[in-house]
Amino acid sequence: MRRRTFIRAIVAALLGTTASVRNAFSLARPKPVFLHGVASGDPTDSAVMLWTRVTTASLGIISVEWQVAADPAMRNVIRAGTTETGSTRDYTVKVDATGLAAGSQYYYRFSCDGQDSAVGRTRTLPRGAIEQAKLGVVSCSNYPAGFFNVYREVAMRNDLDAVLHLGDYIYEYGMGEYATENASAIGRIPDPPHEIRTLEDYRRRHAQYKADPDSQAMHASVPVIAVWDDHEIANDSWRDGAENHQDGEGQWSERRDAALQAYFEWMPIRGVAAGADTKIYREFRWGDLASVVMLDTRLIGRDRQPNVGEEVTRDSIVAALRDPGRRMLGAEQEQWLRDTLQAAGSTTWQLIGQQVMVARMEPPDLEPLVDRDGPSYFSPENLDAIIKASKSHAPQVLDVWEGYPVAREQFLQDLDKFARNPVVLSGDLHTSLAANLIPNGGERPVAVELMAGPVSSPVLESVFPDKVPNGVRDATLVQNPNIRFLDIARRGWLVVTVTPSECTGEWHLVDTVLSRDYKSWSAATMKVGAGQIGKGLV
Ligand SMILES: [Fe+2]
Repeated sequence: MRRRTFIRAIVAALLGTTASVRNAFSLARPKPVFLHGVASGDPTDSAVMLWTRVTTASLGIISVEWQVAADPAMRNVIRAGTTETGSTRDYTVKVDATGLAAGSQYYYRFSCDGQDSAVGRTRTLPRGAIEQAKLGVVSCSNYPAGFFNVYREVAMRNDLDAVLHLGDYIYEYGMGEYATENASAIGRIPDPPHEIRTLEDYRRRHAQYKADPDSQAMHASVPVIAVWDDHEIANDSWRDGAENHQDGEGQWSERRDAALQAYFEWMPIRGVAAGADTKIYREFRWGDLASVVMLDTRLIGRDRQPNVGEEVTRDSIVAALRDPGRRMLGAEQEQWLRDTLQAAGSTTWQLIGQQVMVARMEPPDLEPLVDRDGPSYFSPENLDAIIKASKSHAPQVLDVWEGYPVAREQFLQDLDKFARNPVVLSGDLHTSLAANLIPNGGERPVAVELMAGPVSSPVLESVFPDKVPNGVRDATLVQNPNIRFLDIARRGWLVVTVTPSECTGEWHLVDTVLSRDYKSWSAATMKVGAGQIGKGLV
């Protein structure tokens, strides 16, 4: 009952229907201070990161108080303190609240200039033998592309231990660029309106996303464990550049560092940005039941994609795909993963949270399936080229593990050798998917992959308009028997539940992101048993 009341209170507050929120915006009162909500993240078994941002006319150093309580009314305060913020960190506030009990629910808020923030709810990690862990998995939240209905779905739950955001938390594009065709009509024009490149730009973009009511509702309801993908910096980024970072846009390293500084300021993640050395790969333990291993497949060690760069030819792509030296994680992170998986051998499950698709996915012959006159993000020439290339069934999305086949084999070998029950979690492709991961020449899966659909980004179907309903999806499933579930038409998210005996993925979809009036449903469930990874998903 208390939980339900809490959820109603945060949703009502964010919809602006409570007296206190109306008063906060009236002229007789001081300007509101906490316009970007509250958030928590990176829980341990005794601590959690708390986040907010203050909006104030004061200059210089601002003092902010924080409280952690056992109840949503904030009567039974467990921990409290004062911290400071200022312009050097864009007035964002981060507190590592320590000394908490394991496996416990807490409530928190901030106070500044005589005003209190909304109350957030969070949870520490459990210790020892536990019966269940339940995680939400989201990715690809594009503000101008649509409303964050998926975030609202997450906020309405009260049974999630944490949410993993696998990246594309923001998008870098300006108005008129990718996924902005409905932005004016739905009142979600990107801010700033141009492609973001500077520290000020990245901060403003993060501020816009954090001002969204559904984003605020999600963050206030559950701790988020986040890793970046490419769009937090620029499309198809890799260690030393990005497809969407061109000549005339300044130094790559300066842009990357600006993006990472803003990310660490605006996200409830532990640590600070350290340029090229910034490590976000890290582990979380749900007692003896599950180890959640978060990876960086994007910036710390990734070599350039085979089809990005100025002198790309067919031969150069083939040579890159065969090059045994090309890496996705980099040698240091690969070794960290082996060591971490080995040490996690005492846990039943190893959930690997990372950005991009691991499964092999060969395109079907698209010629009889795609409506060339249908609406597509691609130009008719591009679409024709893709249709032509699909006849050879050669994979064409080379920004995913598919573009790093040697590194992928190593990754699968490492999972087979060092993990007990590995489950790979992914996003990035704007697709809901479940797959068995089988090494080249192998017959049995060594891991399974569960991919979350996009929060709001355009789905694959808007690239390949169908001649017959679900034609592209169905043919893709026939072409790739390793893929066990696929949806390329809807936005959505994933709930992963692990118990000592099984791991279950449940895919939720929403029918629209062009309105906050939407329908949501559970579209599919797939399971794998502990000790049964070789049998794959059922
Ligand atoms: Fe994305």
